[in-house]
Amino acid sequence: MGKTLVISGGTRGIGRAIVERFAREGVDVAFTYNSNRELAQKLAEELEERYSVHVRAYPLNILEPEGYKELFQKVDSDFGRVDFFISNAIISGRPVVGGFGPFMRLKPRGLNNIYTATVLAFVIGAQEAAKRMEKGGGGVIITMSSTGNLVYTPNYAGHGSSKAAVETMVKYAAHELGEKGIRVNAVSGGPIDTDALRAFPNYEEVKAATIARSPLRRMGTPEDLAGACWFLCSDDASWITGQTIVVDGGTSFS
Ligand SMILES: NC(=O)c1ccc[n+]([C@@H]2O[C@H](COP(=O)([O-])OP(=O)(O)OC[C@H]3O[C@@H](n4cnc5c(N)ncnc54)[C@H](OP(=O)(O)O)[C@@H]3O)[C@@H](O)[C@H]2O)c1
Repeated sequence: MGKTLVISGGTRGIGRAIVERFAREGVDVAFTYNSNRELAQKLAEELEERYSVHVRAYPLNILEPEGYKELFQKVDSDFGRVDFFISNAIISGRPVVGGFGPFMRLKPRGLNNIYTATVLAFVIGAQEAAKRMEKGGGGVIITMSSTGNLVYTPNYAGHGSSKAAVETMVKYAAHELGEKGIRVNAVSGGPIDTDALRAFPNYEEVKAATIARSPLRRMGTPEDLAGACWFLCSDDASWITGQTIVVDGGTSFS
C-alpha cells in the first residue's frame, strides 16, 4: 500500500487496536509509547513479522506537545511520508489528579494537564502531520474523543470538557486544511473496556450500566473504534470532514 500512519499511544487499548488494524490493511505504522518501552518494541517486531509492513515505536510525552516536532523528524527519516495521523494517547494516574474528579474538587494543574494532553497535543501533532501531508498531496487526521461530553459521566468533567474542545478544534482544522486535501475528524467512543476505563473507581458500575444502556447489550471494544478510524481514512469517507463520528453502541440516547 505504501502509506504511513503516525499514532500516539499505540501500546495498549484503543491505540493498540488501531495500530494492528492499519498494519493488517498493509499500512506502515509509526506509533508512540510513554512508559511501556519494552512492550512497544516487542509489539513493533511482532506486527512487522505478522503483516510484512514497516512498524516502529518512538517515545513521546503528550504533556510536552512540542516533542511532536522531534518525533516527526524521526518519522521523516524512517518512513519518508505521512498519510494518516491519529491523536489517541491519554494520560492517567498522577498527572490527572485534580482533573479527574467531582466538579468541586477540580484544580488548575490537573485540568491543565488534561487539556494539554487532549487539545494542545492534538494541535501540535496535527500541525506537524499536515505539513508533511500537504507535500504528499493530502491526508487524514483524526482525534479520539469520548461521549463523556454528551452524557454525564461521574468524575469526567476535565476529560469531557477537553474532548468538547478538541472536537471544536477539529472543525477549525478541517475548515483550514481542506484545500490542502486534508480531512480532519473525531471518533467519539462510548465506554470501551481498556486500562483507562479500568482506572475509574466505579469501573464495574460503568461497565454494567453501559451494557444495560446499549441496545446491543454489550460493552464497546477497542476494535469497534479502530474500524471507524479505518473507514475515515479510506476513500469511502472522502467527503467526510469536520465531523465527530459517534461509536457508542447506542448508549448516548438511552
Ligand atoms: N476507554 C474508553 O472508555 C474510551 C472511550 C472513548 C474514547 N477514549 C479515548 O481513546 C483514547 C485511548 O484511550 P484508551 O482507553 O485506549 O487508553 P489507555 O488504555 O489508558 O492507553 C493509553 C495510551 O496512552 C499512552 N500514554 C499514557 N500517558 C502518556 C503520556 N504522558 N504521553 C504519551 N502517551 C501516553 C500509553 O502509553 P504507555 O503504555 O507507554 O504508558 C498508552 O499507549 C483516549 O484519547 C481516550 O480518551 C477512550
